[in-house]
Amino acid sequence: MREKAAIILAAGQGKRMKSRRPKVLHLLAGMPMLDYTLNLVERLHFQKVYVIVGYQADQVKAVLSGRDITALLQHIPLGTGDAVLKAKQVLENFPGPVLILSGDTPLLREETVRGLCERHEAEKATITLLTTRMPVPDGYGRVIRGKGGEIIRVVEEKDATPDQRSVQEVNCGVYVAEAAFLFEALAKVAPNNQQQEYYLTDIIQIAADASMKLVGWEAAAEEVVGINSRADMAMAEEILQRRINTRWMAEGVTFIDPSLIRIGARVTIGRDTILYPGVTLEGETDIGEGCVLHPCRIRDSHVGSDVVIKDHCVIEGANIESMASVGPFAHLRSGTLIRQGAKVGNFVEIKKSELGEGSKANHLSYIGDTVVGKGVNIGAGTITCNYDGEKKHQTIIEDNVFIGSDTQLVAPVRVGARSLIAAGSTITQDVPPDTLAISRVKQENKIGWVERRKIKRRCAD
Ligand code: UD1
Ligand code: CA
Repeated sequence: MREKAAIILAAGQGKRMKSRRPKVLHLLAGMPMLDYTLNLVERLHFQKVYVIVGYQADQVKAVLSGRDITALLQHIPLGTGDAVLKAKQVLENFPGPVLILSGDTPLLREETVRGLCERHEAEKATITLLTTRMPVPDGYGRVIRGKGGEIIRVVEEKDATPDQRSVQEVNCGVYVAEAAFLFEALAKVAPNNQQQEYYLTDIIQIAADASMKLVGWEAAAEEVVGINSRADMAMAEEILQRRINTRWMAEGVTFIDPSLIRIGARVTIGRDTILYPGVTLEGETDIGEGCVLHPCRIRDSHVGSDVVIKDHCVIEGANIESMASVGPFAHLRSGTLIRQGAKVGNFVEIKKSELGEGSKANHLSYIGDTVVGKGVNIGAGTITCNYDGEKKHQTIIEDNVFIGSDTQLVAPVRVGARSLIAAGSTITQDVPPDTLAISRVKQENKIGWVERRKIKRRCAD
C-alpha cells in the first residue's frame, strides 16, 4: 500500500450562509460541520492531513487542536484551485495519491471515500473524481462527458451553457489525484471564468487534454450534499438526524416518532430506553438503559439506568443516578448530582447541589449550593437562600431530615440528621441532630372576632 495524504478545503467564508461564523464551524447535530470531515479522514488513517484555513483561521484551527492535522493558510480566497496550491510546498514530492475534500460536505460516508481511493489505485488513475446524479443539480459543477462516455471536464454552473446546465451528473468536490500531476496542473489554472477564481475543477480538463487516466466514481446524492446555505444546512440536519436515530434504534432504543426527536452526534443511549416525541439530547450526554424520557432537553449530562424524566425538563451539566425521577417542569443546572432513587418534582430548580439517595424535593423549590443527605424530604416551596448579594454560601442537610413546606434556609447553615423543620420557618442558625426547629410568629386565635366586626360596622351605618 502506498502512503496517502489528504487536503481538506476550509478557507472560504461561506458568503451564502450570511453569517459572522465561518461556514465550516456551523453546527450540525450539535457538532461543527468540519468535524465530520476530520473524523472521516482520521478513520481512514492517512499519513498526512492538511486543512486549508483562511477566513477566521484561528477559530477554525481551534477545531483541529488535539488532532494530528496541520493547518495551512490561504490569505485570500482566490478559489478552490488556489486553496489546494497552498499544500504544494508540503506535498509536491509526495509519492502517493492525495485525497481532496471540502469542509462543507459533512454527510460523506467513510465507505464511499474508501471506495474512491481503492478505485483510484485499482485503475492506476491520475485523477479519480466522485460524482453523483441529482434531479435538481442547482449550484453544482456539471460533469461533462465525451462521445465515448469519458469525462472531459467539469463546468461550474455560472459558466455553463444551457445545454451543460441540463446535465444531471455533478462534481461532488471530492477527488483523488496523483501529487505530481496535481501541482503541475494547478500551475496552469487561470481565473478565466465568471467568478474570476482559480478553479480546482479545471485540472479535470487539463488531465483529459493530456490523455491522463480520469476515472469517475459515483456516490449516492444524499451523502455528497455541499452545504452552502442555511437551507442546505437544514436538509443536512434532517439527513444526519435520520442516520443518528436509525443507528440508536438498531442498538435497541425505542423512538416514538423519530422525526420529532433530536439526538446530538456525541450522545450515547442505552438499550430499552424509550424516547417520546420532543426529546432533545445535546452535547456530551449519555443516557443509561431502561430510561423513559418524555419531552425534555438534556445537555452535557450523565443519566444512569432506569431513570424517568417527565415532561418539560431542562437538564444541563447534571449527573442523575439510576432509578431517579425528575420532573415534570424541573430545571437541573450544572453541578447537580441526583443520587440513586431520588425524586425531583414540579417546578424545582437545582444548581451545584447533591440530592442524596432516596431523597425527595417534589414541589416548587430552589436548591443551590446544597448537600442533601439520604432519605430527606424537602417540603413544597423550600428555598435555600444561598446568595447574600456578594457571595454564595453552602447549606448542608444531613440524612433523614424532614423540611416542612415553605421553609427558607439562610446559608451558610447546617441541619443535623433526623431533625425536623416546622413548615413556614426561616432557618438562620444551625440545627443540631434530632431537633425540632420552628421559627415563625406564634399564632393567636381571636375567637368571635369576625362576628364582632360585623356588628361594629352595622352600628356605624
Ligand atoms: C465546488 C466545486 C463544484 C462542486 C461543488 C461540490 C469548484 C470550483 N467547484 O463548488 O464543482 O460541484 O464544490 O460541493 O471547486 N474554499 C477555500 N478557498 C477558496 C474557495 C473555497 O478553501 O478560495 C473551500 C470552501 O471553504 C469550501 C470548499 O472550498 O469548503 C468549496 O468551496 P465552495 O465555494 O463551497 O465551492 P462550490 O461553489 O460549492
Ligand atoms: Ca460548496
